[in-house]
Amino acid sequence: MGLCDLIVVAALISVTSTQFIPPYTEECRTEMYPPAGPTFRSAVSWYTVDLDSPPSDRWTALITDKKNDLLVVIKAIRDFANALVPSGRLVELVDISLPLMVETLPKPYGEEIKAIAAVAGLPLGEVVLYNIFYEVFTVCTSVVAEDDEGNLFHARNLDFGIFMGWDVKNKSWIISEKLKPLVINLNFKRNNQTLFKSTNFAGYVGLLTGVKPNLFTLTMNERFNLDGGFVGILEWIFGKRDGMWMGFLMRSVLENANSYKEAQTLLVQTKLLAPAYFILGGNQTGQGCIITRSRLHSIDVLELDLKLGRWYVLETNYDHWNEPLFLDDRRTSAMKCMNQTTQTNITPKTMYDVLSTKPVLNKLTVYTTLMQVSGGKLESFIRDCPNPCMPW
Ligand SMILES: *[C@@H]1O[C@H](CO)[C@@H](O)[C@H](O)[C@H]1NC(C)=O
Ligand SMILES: *[C@@H]1O[C@H](CO)[C@@H](O)[C@H](O)[C@H]1NC(C)=O
Ligand SMILES: *[C@@H]1O[C@H](CO)[C@@H](O)[C@H](O)[C@H]1NC(C)=O
Ligand SMILES: *[C@@H]1O[C@H](CO)[C@@H](O)[C@H](O)[C@H]1NC(C)=O
Repeated sequence: MGLCDLIVVAALISVTSTQFIPPYTEECRTEMYPPAGPTFRSAVSWYTVDLDSPPSDRWTALITDKKNDLLVVIKAIRDFANALVPSGRLVELVDISLPLMVETLPKPYGEEIKAIAAVAGLPLGEVVLYNIFYEVFTVCTSVVAEDDEGNLFHARNLDFGIFMGWDVKNKSWIISEKLKPLVINLNFKRNNQTLFKSTNFAGYVGLLTGVKPNLFTLTMNERFNLDGGFVGILEWIFGKRDGMWMGFLMRSVLENANSYKEAQTLLVQTKLLAPAYFILGGNQTGQGCIITRSRLHSIDVLELDLKLGRWYVLETNYDHWNEPLFLDDRRTSAMKCMNQTTQTNITPKTMYDVLSTKPVLNKLTVYTTLMQVSGGKLESFIRDCPNPCMPW
């Protein structure tokens, strides 16, 4: 049993000790798009990030709008930290040591985080913590698929908030619910033109989901491992800073890489703070892969292979050559629905059906994003998972 399995079992015990929730799976959904009904909470609004303006100004308009929702999430994280270490010592540590850490972050991320804290009127350390926690708690489903005319589509569910408190009365994850109002789409511009787009959380300067129009699409999923994110983050705090933050690498690849191959090389070779899965789609036939990363290097790259009948690659949070944990088999459900859809009928619309099927859709699912590299289309939707529904 790995660390992930242990943590999931611990989470399961904490959920089931208050109520019994059987594994809940269902037949593949169809005709879910355009999104409506109880699994669709709302559309996502767009904001522009102008990369030609100074890092201290880029986020002002967005944070001014989303300040109150950000305060709610940061308060929930503080409560969580206080519950973990009741003396208040953890929060004290966050307020004292994390502000110092901001100076060590690569440019321009440290400056952007400082500006966000100032605009929101929040303690710097808590905004740093908020930016760190996406590195370690992101469980998801990502898939890149090619239709039989060679068009590439990339879709994902972002599942977030596990281990951070289950609301018994509402049967929901406290943080997942509070994050929903913070979901936004971003249009990153340079020279007054779109450079890339993303679905993001207001106040987070890294990136988990993005498209560089006509070149590539990129998502990341957490890879749980003993030598995981916490070790890398502690090393960073104590001065060993040769690894890259995963969310910053994602953003830097979208900003700087100009082809699928170039993006792949950066994702394979850059040393990281935490293990991860990168799911990358290109702009021509056969260009789609899952990169399984340890902190130091790539362990495996699984590419589309039409000759072998592999017209899609799909990743949840387990190495593709291993069986998923029996308590968390989103992979089999998602693959069953992809297979049932068939390559002929794959479109962003039918991928939304796959991602709407429980337990691929679960209580942690915050948003679904659909991307098409051609034209750089990105659409996202805030999700709900009405009962009965798996906690993850
Ligand atoms: C429970 O859910 C309701 C409706 O979604 C919401 O208004 C309420 O704030 C939630 N309660 C908590 C404690 O999150
Ligand atoms: C930026 O582009 C918009 C339309 O896309 C145009 O109206 C505006 O004048 C441009 N601004 C600059 C500084 O070029
Ligand atoms: C695909 O990407 C390459 C760069 O790798 C670029 O030269 C080419 O124009 C792109 N093709 C399309 C159809 O956008
Ligand atoms: C889906 O199809 C692939 C390729 O034919 C096969 O390897 C896989 O076992 C199938 N998975 C499910 C869950 O049906």
